[in-house]
Parts: sequence; structure tokens; C-alpha cells
Amino acid sequence: MRTTLVTGGAGFIGTNMADRLLSQGERVVVLDDLSRIGVENNLSWLRATHPDRLQVEVGDVQDAAVVRRALQGVDQVFHFAAQVAVTTSVTDPVADYGVNLGGTVTLLEELRRLDDAPPLLFTSTNKVYGKCKGIEVVERGDRYEPSDEAVRTYGIGEDQPLQFASPYGCSKGGADQYVLDYADTYGMPTVVFRMSCIYGPHQCGNEDQGWVAHFLMQALDGNPITLYGDGRQVRDVLFVDDLLDAMQTAMDRVDELSGSAFNMGGGPDSTVSLLQLLDMIGDLGARPDVEFGPWRVGDQRYYVSDTRRFSDATGWAPKIAPEQGVALLHEWLTSSRLAASRAS
Ligand SMILES: NC(=O)c1ccc[n+]([C@@H]2O[C@H](COP(=O)([O-])OP(=O)(O)OC[C@H]3O[C@@H](n4cnc5c(N)ncnc54)[C@H](O)[C@@H]3O)[C@@H](O)[C@H]2O)c1
Repeated sequence: MRTTLVTGGAGFIGTNMADRLLSQGERVVVLDDLSRIGVENNLSWLRATHPDRLQVEVGDVQDAAVVRRALQGVDQVFHFAAQVAVTTSVTDPVADYGVNLGGTVTLLEELRRLDDAPPLLFTSTNKVYGKCKGIEVVERGDRYEPSDEAVRTYGIGEDQPLQFASPYGCSKGGADQYVLDYADTYGMPTVVFRMSCIYGPHQCGNEDQGWVAHFLMQALDGNPITLYGDGRQVRDVLFVDDLLDAMQTAMDRVDELSGSAFNMGGGPDSTVSLLQLLDMIGDLGARPDVEFGPWRVGDQRYYVSDTRRFSDATGWAPKIAPEQGVALLHEWLTSSRLAASRAS
């Protein structure tokens, strides 16, 4: 039976991955320090849903001894543990650097100690492309659009120059480069996903990170939402189940894909601006009131992934459209809140 280490396994993407692998009959080791507020609920849910084959290590990915223990008998590694908010990285760049870059190098070194290092998939970010130099955008109604037709049609590819705007961009971008370099220098099987906006159940969205979930939660609570900037920022959104399909495909084909970075998101067919998401939420119930704040450091006006490198290599394509995914998340939030209020 295969065993998978999921670092950050109590987090949003980690919980979904652990749940999927356990449901498929595999063994999972979750390593998480539970530093993200709310993720202990994910861990309790995982434990209750999968009483067998789940091992939990509560600890810090920066601690080599903890990582070494978690790696025992492991066949593949999904490395999600991270400080995930740009805003937090701006107020505490040292802590951000420690977890995101230090933690990743610690994990790489512990993998390198092993005779036959298991494959590693690392979750990088679109923020490694910073302000997307050279991509001009124009305002069109309630969204920004690139002036260049090719960018409008296909999105932003891996040939976009790296430009680490914000400490978070630097720490994740540095880790992204280390993970690729360990494939090159040491021949270790590693793959990098540079991800845009992922959303879905078990996301503890807040004002700093996880905006789709945050907007829906605020709407359900009847609270206003602050839009930093003018709300016309556009992102491609990817429902977490589609991401898990891509990740499992990447792991299955790691021998061909090793040493590569792939832009990963919903692509040009799955884009929304913040204002458009509010309309979508309005269609599901009440559109929240909006306040506006100043633009944030490193915020891109337009970022949409060109996923063709990954799709061409593997045949993967997302299946869940934004309207459907947002409705699914709305339904999950409503039912999990109802269950929590009944239990209390
Ligand atoms: N969700 C997205 O839209 C998105 C987009 C781009 C990249 N990413 C990347 O994907 C990964 C997973 O993101 P997520 O949305 O699931 O975030 P998340 O915050 O829900 O999960 C991260 C988990 O890591 C844990 N963690 C933090 N510091 C740790 C440490 N020092 N040691 C051990 N565990 C630690 C947290 O407690 C949390 O459970 C992150 O690396 C993030 O940078 C996410």
C-alpha cells in the first residue's frame, strides 16, 4: 500500500488531498504545525472520516528531526506547508522566509539523505511573476483585460520572466527554484506547480488569503467585504478537485515531468474579477455590501494561467466551471455551518 506525506495536510489543499488519498485506500502522513487559524477543524474532520491509515505529526516543517520522522516509509510527498499570505509576509518577512524557503530546503535535504528519494510536488505561486512585466492591461467594464490578444486567449505562460515582488513572492520563488535545482543537481524527482487561485471546501479563507471562500463566508454572515483596489482585478479560479486530478497526474508521470514548473489554474475559460464574483454570490443569495481600500503590495491587475504546458504533456483539463464550483463551495459552507451549530 502506498504511503504519502502531505505537509500542510491540515490546510485547505492538504485536507482535500489527504481525504482523496485515504478514500482511495492509501496511507497518509499529515505533517502540520496547525498555525493557520481554523485548520484544527480540518484535522478533526479527517480523523473522524478516516480513522484508519492516517498518521498525524503535529510539528514544524523547519525542524529536520520532525521531517525525518514524517518521511519514514513514504513513497511520495506533496509539500503544501507554508506561510500563505502576501500581507503577513510584508509585516513579518523573516518568519515567511523561514517557513517557505527554510522549510522547503529542510525537506529537500531530508529527501536527499534517502537512498531512493520519493518524488516531491511543490506548490509555488503566480506571485513569482510579480507585476507581470510587459503585460499591458486595459479596463473593460468590471474587469481588467490584457491588450495583447495572445495573452487574452491563452493566459500567462512559464516563459514569463520571474520577478519576485513581495517577500512572499521571494520566499516561494526561492523555494520553487531550489526544488527545480534539486532535480537538476541531484537527479531527484521533483515537480513545481505555480498556482493561481484555488478554491473549495475546507478552505479557511480570510481577508489575507483565500478570497473566494472569504467572500462567501462574509456573505453568509451578512458582513461587508473590503475590496483592496478597484475590484476589477482578474484571476483564473480552479476548483480544488480539478487541482487534485492534476497533482495526481503529475505524480503518476513524474519520470517524464521531473525538473519542470507548470502554471496551474482554471485558465482563460475560468476567469472572474472580484466584482464579478460578488455578482455570482448575489445570484446565490445576498450580494454583500462593499467597501474599498488601497491597493495591496504585489497585487496583480490581471493574472490568468496558461496551462497548456501541463495539458499538452498530460491531457489534463479542468472540469468544474466557476459558477458550478462557487455554488458547490456555497453549499458546503452552508451545510458545514449548519452541522456545527447543531453540534454546539
Ligand atoms: N490556495 C491557493 O489559492 C494557493 C495559490 C497558490 C499557491 N498556494 C500554495 O499551496 C499551498 C497550500 O495552500 P493552502 O491554500 O492549502 O493553504 P493553507 O494555509 O490552508 O494550508 C497551509 C498549511 O500549512 C500549515 N503550516 C504553516 N506553517 C507550517 C510549518 N512551519 N510547519 C508545518 N505546517 C505549517 C498551516 O497550518 C496550514 O494547515 C501553500 O504552499 C500555498 O503557498 C495556494
